[in-house]
Amino acid sequence: MHDPAPDPMPDPGPGSAPRSGTEASPLAALFRALADVYAAEGRAGGDAAAAAYREAAGRLDAAPPARPHPPLHLLVTECRAALAAASHPAARAALAAEALLPWRSSDVPGSALNASARALFAVAPLIGPGALVEIAGLRAGLFLQRPEALYPLHAHAAEETYAVLHGAADWTLDAVTTRHDAGALIHHPAHGAHATRTGPAPMLAAWRWSGDIRLETYRMVGPAR
Ligand SMILES: [Fe+2]
Repeated sequence: MHDPAPDPMPDPGPGSAPRSGTEASPLAALFRALADVYAAEGRAGGDAAAAAYREAAGRLDAAPPARPHPPLHLLVTECRAALAAASHPAARAALAAEALLPWRSSDVPGSALNASARALFAVAPLIGPGALVEIAGLRAGLFLQRPEALYPLHAHAAEETYAVLHGAADWTLDAVTTRHDAGALIHHPAHGAHATRTGPAPMLAAWRWSGDIRLETYRMVGPAR
């Protein structure tokens, strides 16, 4: 007499969830959407960011992150209703990956931004040293700024390109201010002084740094206004 051996790998059948490791990662989809954004930039730094995002997406396909979902950042929660209307593919992908994104209040050294400035925006470092996916030589991620907020004039050694994914802002570089909305790419050369002011809606953007990416080169330029 014996018990029938259980099927060691039963067929999940139609409609069942894919087995672990085969599920499409919403993070990988986001990374590929951001790669498409930076592949269109036409600069070496954009090409490098696109390649890094694709490499990171491949790593996520092979080994989805095991870390528990972080709690949603307060600013993300506050802006959720406005972001739900986003139509840019990378913004839609960011919404789909919302629970997996490492949003935090600031990614710059504590002394460079005062507490009130920190409360104006949140960042989610996705690739780079110490980011969600460890990649050497560059930094890139997402950025969310409150409505009616000024991210004050600052500069850093890295050259930087933002991509507006939802909402709009007035972007100032070296005293010239231009309004940009979803789909725009805004480039800041190394050490260029820049600021960002939102209107009545929050702005979701992607950012990338290349060149000298040391955070300690970040500095405020003049008093916050
Ligand atoms: Fe910047």
